Amino acid sequence: MLKIISVVGARPNFMKVAPLHKAFEKLSEESGKWKSAEGGESKKEEEKNSSIAHQPLTINHLICHTGQHYDEKMSKVFFDELELPKPDFYLGVGSGSHAEQTAKVMIEFEKILLQEKPDLVIVVGDVNSTIACSLAAVKLHIKVAHVEAGLRSFDKEMPEEINRVLTDTISDFLFITEKSGLENLKNSGISDEKVFFVGNCMIDSLIHYLPKVDKSTILETYCLLPTAYLLVTLHRPSNVDEAKSLREVIEMLNHLSEKRKIVFPIHPRTRANIKAFGLESFLNENIILTDPIGYLDFISLVKNCELVITDSGGIQEESTYLGVQCLTLRDNTERPVTVEVGTNHLVGTDFKKAELAAVEILSGKKKIGKIPELWDGKAAERIVRILVEKLNC
Ligand code: UD1
Repeated sequence: MLKIISVVGARPNFMKVAPLHKAFEKLSEESGKWKSAEGGESKKEEEKNSSIAHQPLTINHLICHTGQHYDEKMSKVFFDELELPKPDFYLGVGSGSHAEQTAKVMIEFEKILLQEKPDLVIVVGDVNSTIACSLAAVKLHIKVAHVEAGLRSFDKEMPEEINRVLTDTISDFLFITEKSGLENLKNSGISDEKVFFVGNCMIDSLIHYLPKVDKSTILETYCLLPTAYLLVTLHRPSNVDEAKSLREVIEMLNHLSEKRKIVFPIHPRTRANIKAFGLESFLNENIILTDPIGYLDFISLVKNCELVITDSGGIQEESTYLGVQCLTLRDNTERPVTVEVGTNHLVGTDFKKAELAAVEILSGKKKIGKIPELWDGKAAERIVRILVEKLNC
């Protein structure tokens, strides 16, 4: 039996682990069927020699939620909508400074590792829980797989960049979503044998849930017409932690809201700062502020809007997959394929220039994008097959 623990901590992790869990379940089921259908003795010779012959018949895939995100709307709703089972372990670390949060996750996760002795830990993305859990695992000589490895913004001001570089350095299996990762990992001195270009688990979830997304009634809820509104998300410290930049972003949104309705599901960090800087009354009434929105409704908002304005990482990818124009309010992106192949416009943090770029898009200057290579809904299945084959040798 293989025992594997996947780690989730923050909102963008849930949709990456959900397809992995489904793929492990599917493989376990297939292995079981294969066992009972064939019987141990009656295997054909080529099957005995193939990788499938080495597959374990049971995979115990467990989920550990660190509790980095804990609000119902930042966490629980995703478990429900993505049909994830209740986590097997909940560490309940909550918020804190970077060191505090990372250290708390390490201390609590180490206890789980000592108790459970898994064969592998899977971490996804670039949040504090990602580096904390991978570090706790490698120190106990437990193998680590990093899903969404190899992305680089080359901007060490971003906590996520530090988390990515460190997690990649100590991981045993690195699964990349786009080819820029191959070169980035080579340049970091990571051996090719550990690196696998498999596609994008977050897009697996998107593809899987599109039929349900299409049943969402969120547009009616906010009286929105398809392709006639803008969707905004902002939470990056560089945009929202200082009064000056937050005020400038809101000014830009106020101007744009004279042309189109804007929906702005607001992250707890951003909401707290708008309040702290006394900017609440400064927002135009054509800007609809909402609490964080669940997965299915949120994807529906992305799919149907005219333009997304964001500083998120994942939304750059989701809009590219859906062929929706996206303005990224950052000076760099660790996801260059979304700009080179997709519909993402990297416009920087000069909000006057960003506003001009938005106005151009609204007047019809749109980018025609393509879906990046291997973003086909099968990344998790590839990952699971590779892992089972490698761990089972
Ligand atoms: C984290 C990730 C970021 C990711 C983002 C998605 C790191 C370093 N950052 O940033 O990469 O894009 O999640 O949302 O891991 N809070 C709540 N309720 C919650 C969670 C957070 O109120 O459920 C508030 C707390 O005041 C907290 C603040 O939001 O201090 C920031 O949360 P934190 O997890 O530290 O970072 P994020 O900004 O969410």
